[in-house]
Amino acid sequence: MTIIDTIGSSISEPSPLRLGVIVGATRPGRKAAQVAAWVRDLAARHPQVQAGRLELRPIDLAEVGLPLLDEPVAAAFGDYLHPHTRTWAETIRACDGFVFVTPEYNHSIPAALKNALDYLYTEWHHKPAGIVSYGLVGGTRAAQHLRTILLELKSVPVGEVTLSVFEDFTYTDMTDPASPFEVAPRDHQPPAVIELLDHLVAYAEALAPLRVALAPIVGATVAGAGGDATGP
Ligand SMILES: Cc1cc2nc3c(=O)[nH]c(=O)nc-3n(C[C@H](O)[C@H](O)[C@H](O)COP(=O)(O)O)c2cc1C
Repeated sequence: MTIIDTIGSSISEPSPLRLGVIVGATRPGRKAAQVAAWVRDLAARHPQVQAGRLELRPIDLAEVGLPLLDEPVAAAFGDYLHPHTRTWAETIRACDGFVFVTPEYNHSIPAALKNALDYLYTEWHHKPAGIVSYGLVGGTRAAQHLRTILLELKSVPVGEVTLSVFEDFTYTDMTDPASPFEVAPRDHQPPAVIELLDHLVAYAEALAPLRVALAPIVGATVAGAGGDATGP
């Protein structure tokens, strides 16, 4: 082994970027898990994943099983009482960015997803977020609502892919939970997901130093705001 080989072998590879793929619906018979699996399958072929520089972590809110928000202090203060909140905070803190897979429910996102977002605050900060939404009419209103919420959490929305239940799924009878109902996106959708991942990687890399630089002040404004503050 030459000196260069020795030096090279001692330089550790940077750890891969970790993108959480959040399954945003929890109801029995949901399509969200299928859509998230489709995203992860596409991502597995992404060059950054193949090179070991990008890792996708499935985060299924049905498995996380958070109760309706039961923390006595607002998340902006970072003072978590319950073990389920601390575990959830650890899961989200460990990610460098997110793909939110969300259906549209009454022109917005499912309550389970809003609840999971509300549980935390700084853990979402300065991390990019891509949205893959779907609905009978394309899920665009859910995506728009989610963008607004993410901005309040200082997350950075970088793009959306929207699927139409009528055009990107195959089904026989939507009213029969036992009948086949599969995600089958049109040809333009996979490249759109890859482009979304490209943006997520670029933003995650660009924002990582910002998170380090802002670490000393993140949460400080709220913590110093006095007893009557409920958040920023
Ligand atoms: C409570 C509820 C509200 C819905 N509201 C809308 C809506 O506002 N717009 C829309 O396009 N589709 C709406 N849909 C249809 C869903 O987008 C569609 O059923 C989708 O499959 C739901 O996602 P899920 O299967 O992962 O739960 C609604 C469905 C549910 C269950």
